[in-house]
Amino acid sequence: MKDTVELLRSIPKAELHLHLGGTLSTEAFFPLYEKYRSKGEEPYLDSVRYSSISKHPVLENFLRTGSGATTFEEFLDFTDFDGFLDVYGLTTCYVRDAEDIALLAHAAIDDLVAQNVRYVEFDITLGGHKVIKYSAGDLGPVMDDISKNAPIEVRWIAGLPRFLGAEESSRVVRELVIADSKSLVGVTMGGPEKQFPHAEHAEAFRLAAEGGLRLSCHAGEADGAHSVWSAINDLNVERIGHGVRSIEDPQLVGYLAEEGITLEVCPTSNIVTGIFRDLEHHPIRELYEAGVPVTLNSDDPAFFGSNLNEEYEKLHRMGWTEEELLELVENGFAAAFADEETIDGLLDEVQAYVESERGDSTALPEIVRTSSSSVASGSDAVHDAPDMNFEPGSVEDLIVRVPKAELHIHLAGTMTAAVFAQLLDKHRSWSPDLVNGWDSSAMSRYAALQPLLDGDLDVLRSPDLFQFEDMDQFGVTVRVLNSFVRDLDDVALVAAGAIENLERQNVAYAELTFDLERFSRLENSILEVGKRLDAISKAAPMQINWLADPTRDIGPENALGLVERLIDARFETLAGISLSGRERDFPPRLFAEMFKLAQGAELRTTIHAGELLAADSIWHVVQELGVDRIGHGIRAIDDPELIDVLAADAIPLEVCPSANVATGMYPTLANHPIHDLFESGVTVTLSSDYPTFFGQDLVGEYLSLHETGWAKNDLLEVVENGFLMAFISDEEADRHLNRVHEIWEEE
Ligand code: ADE
Ligand code: ZN
Repeated sequence: MKDTVELLRSIPKAELHLHLGGTLSTEAFFPLYEKYRSKGEEPYLDSVRYSSISKHPVLENFLRTGSGATTFEEFLDFTDFDGFLDVYGLTTCYVRDAEDIALLAHAAIDDLVAQNVRYVEFDITLGGHKVIKYSAGDLGPVMDDISKNAPIEVRWIAGLPRFLGAEESSRVVRELVIADSKSLVGVTMGGPEKQFPHAEHAEAFRLAAEGGLRLSCHAGEADGAHSVWSAINDLNVERIGHGVRSIEDPQLVGYLAEEGITLEVCPTSNIVTGIFRDLEHHPIRELYEAGVPVTLNSDDPAFFGSNLNEEYEKLHRMGWTEEELLELVENGFAAAFADEETIDGLLDEVQAYVESERGDSTALPEIVRTSSSSVASGSDAVHDAPDMNFEPGSVEDLIVRVPKAELHIHLAGTMTAAVFAQLLDKHRSWSPDLVNGWDSSAMSRYAALQPLLDGDLDVLRSPDLFQFEDMDQFGVTVRVLNSFVRDLDDVALVAAGAIENLERQNVAYAELTFDLERFSRLENSILEVGKRLDAISKAAPMQINWLADPTRDIGPENALGLVERLIDARFETLAGISLSGRERDFPPRLFAEMFKLAQGAELRTTIHAGELLAADSIWHVVQELGVDRIGHGIRAIDDPELIDVLAADAIPLEVCPSANVATGMYPTLANHPIHDLFESGVTVTLSSDYPTFFGQDLVGEYLSLHETGWAKNDLLEVVENGFLMAFISDEEADRHLNRVHEIWEEE
């Protein structure tokens, strides 16, 4: 009977993290080097990228003279990660055309076959090196040809260098998508992690995902947990290359486990590049025990002197059991970026092999087979997760942890691209009459939306959807997105996304504003809508109330009619009425009767005012409407008398600084009057308004205040104001405030 090491050597395995350049060897390197030297081509090293070349005399000399080494091993005198990247960059600069790629791939495949690797994803550098002669377009047929003729399953992952810059990485991805190679299945990003954070490549990754490519990114290798958070939040990856330094953040470890985000772990690589001292200090065991799906990989075997079978052997020597190692084998197939059928077939092979060697497959842990669709929705859910990973005890950490109230947030403004895509996939139709009072001239002003009128729904999948030139375009876009909310399940879907984000931010109370006009046109009665909203609130992990917003744009009479119907169908978690929409065309006083009606029915009231229009627009709100709060109201800053009235009457403002910057009212947060308002005694609350559109959530808003120099106690006062000004009972507010103080005074 085979022992465990023999079993693992011969069992079908997957290799998910293998740089093709990382398989260079003396035999492969020198012929390539001669090929280019004979044509008078220079060695190449990107000067921005390679910072520590002077620590490597062999390399430095080689770069200068193009000679000085006769074996590949002579290059390998690096002692740290940056040094490794220098060596890797200089040696792999001789992989310049499609022929070189094919040469390396054939040799690598032979080696993989010998190790019984049945499935490989080769990471191949695309973009960046000026000496590279191949493009995504040229390479497509070459890669497909290699894959088709290989005795094992071969897939390709485009490895974008981090230093490309956002524009170039997006260009490369567009080219990849157009090339449409069958065997190129994904995108990753490697290189100097600390010096070039990956967040700026969000656009490229979004384009890749849209083009049907799967996403991974090297993160948490040379840099810490925040880099992994960024790969998750900014790039929306499904897997993480390395990711081992996630161990520095227990919250992150829990998150990876819960979301099933696979790590492509390469233990030997991490030790040779000095990330961890030795295997005993390597966190793979701890990650595994925490339930994170880990896989074993070899990264750059020629540079680290290892191969995949040895990775398994090393773990076995560390005490990993056969069953545990088999789980890692399965993880490798389960997380592959191949189609489900291929993955299932390979997993069946593993099972058959274990059965043939061990009599049955009970040694084989039950594996949850990840269908590609569940992976996609899993990563959608994290799309907007903010990076909330701060030093314990810091003000930032306190901001994240303290329970907060969110008083001014439009449900439609919480819709992420991922949530919206689900609505789009469900409904697949649109017509202007879904939007009340549709103004076709508005649409025609925005070329980006034009195709929608011809029935081309795919324009709504553009990553530019959440970009807008002006307020009108913003308004049109929100209304179009909102017109895909057509039944109560849609309402629940959007609300679930919003609530998940609020929970992540430790929001303990939220007033979600819904578009009353839109909701009144669902296939259900307002009574049923109310019941569903109550149910959503009840199921939420925090306190949720609802504000109905008829919107100004439907005119005062229609608004009044809707509010009458709403009052007849009043539901438990309806806290009040809000009113947004075009300030200039529909001044507040037109809605006096509507507010009076709502107030008579003991609904609380708030109105957007003084957001775009000057202070006098707020005066008549204060004097004539008797509302409990004002949405925005920031332009009051221009009128000291008005400020005094707001302060004296304690009329709170729902301030949303990022929104005001995004709509061009103020050039930057530093110019925003929120601090002056606060200092002059106005009751300031803080909110995020349309977080997806303005790219800022509530935690982000608080962090911005902190960054612009707000005192810690003033931040606390804003947090408290949120609960004090909420449309809840005093007892409820007290309960929240007690929790606030517990957390705030904890450290
Ligand atoms: N390129 C090749 N190997 C790499 C690694 N381990 N990390 C980042 N970039 C790489
Ligand atoms: Zn790598």
